[in-house]
Amino acid sequence: MPMKQFLSAHDVDSIDDLIDLARRHKRKPRNLEDLGYGKTIINLFFNPSLRTRISTEKAGLNLGFDVITYDASGGWNIEFETGAVMNLDTAEHVREAAGVLSQYCDILCVRSFPSLTDKEADYADRVMKSFVQYATVPVVSLESATRHPLQSLADCLTISEHSHRPRPKVVLTWAPHPRRLPQAVANSFAEWMVEWDKVDLTICNPEGFDLAPEFTAGAQVVHHQAEAFRGADFIYAKNWSSYDDYGATASLPDWIIDESKMALTNNAYFMHCLPVRRNVVVTDGVIESPRSLVLQQANNRTWAAQAVLGRMQTK
Ligand code: CP
Repeated sequence: MPMKQFLSAHDVDSIDDLIDLARRHKRKPRNLEDLGYGKTIINLFFNPSLRTRISTEKAGLNLGFDVITYDASGGWNIEFETGAVMNLDTAEHVREAAGVLSQYCDILCVRSFPSLTDKEADYADRVMKSFVQYATVPVVSLESATRHPLQSLADCLTISEHSHRPRPKVVLTWAPHPRRLPQAVANSFAEWMVEWDKVDLTICNPEGFDLAPEFTAGAQVVHHQAEAFRGADFIYAKNWSSYDDYGATASLPDWIIDESKMALTNNAYFMHCLPVRRNVVVTDGVIESPRSLVLQQANNRTWAAQAVLGRMQTK
């Protein structure tokens, strides 16, 4: 079924069908090179990106779309409040911003990170939802305040390619980081793993770093890495700041993913969405080992994006 929006796993009829489509694009990238002929994708970035930007551009080009990327990270102050008197810093209302961009494209893709200070606004996904509300073309999330669905679809594809037994044990583990980071990748990974229902998911994080319950229902949550890692087939590492003490972080260097922890697993594959801080999040030895899938994950971003863009309901 064509999609009117792609913001989360809940917008997808069948994750397996979307994975199959991504696999077909991976085998023959230009097989549908006329699909986007005469149509335009705009990628709007309020925050920086390497992987998402390039893989989405490549996916659009493979499908024959014209692709325009607009880097709005330099300070395009958009107003989101209805009825706001705009006599301060905001220069353009999202109603006009989304409406105008819709005049120039057939699919609007948006990346916007959370504030990590205003939990209510972040978890209402105000930026992404406002673009969905006021755009007249389909909207694709390139990562929002709460989710990163294209990353998660690529991760499903990567796990499906390396899974050698039914319902492998997948562990999403918190890892250290010097800066506070969004919960979006972790939320989304948990949401997709549960919705996909092809793996047994364990989430492992320090006390005080539980993800929002809406994302973790159906997963086991533990607070000790040794317990989580035993028998694991996939270790997915990611830092996230606290949801409960919103945006807070902690210095816990012992949570690094190293060879001794990987030795507890069932010869698990190591995964991370990148970018990654080496020897903070993960040791050189683990990320460079033959069991590391980080480059395969990055590669699969293109095929995931191509599957999604090709399914969007354009006129
Ligand atoms: N994984 C990911 O989204 O990377 P970028 O921030 O470089 O897009």
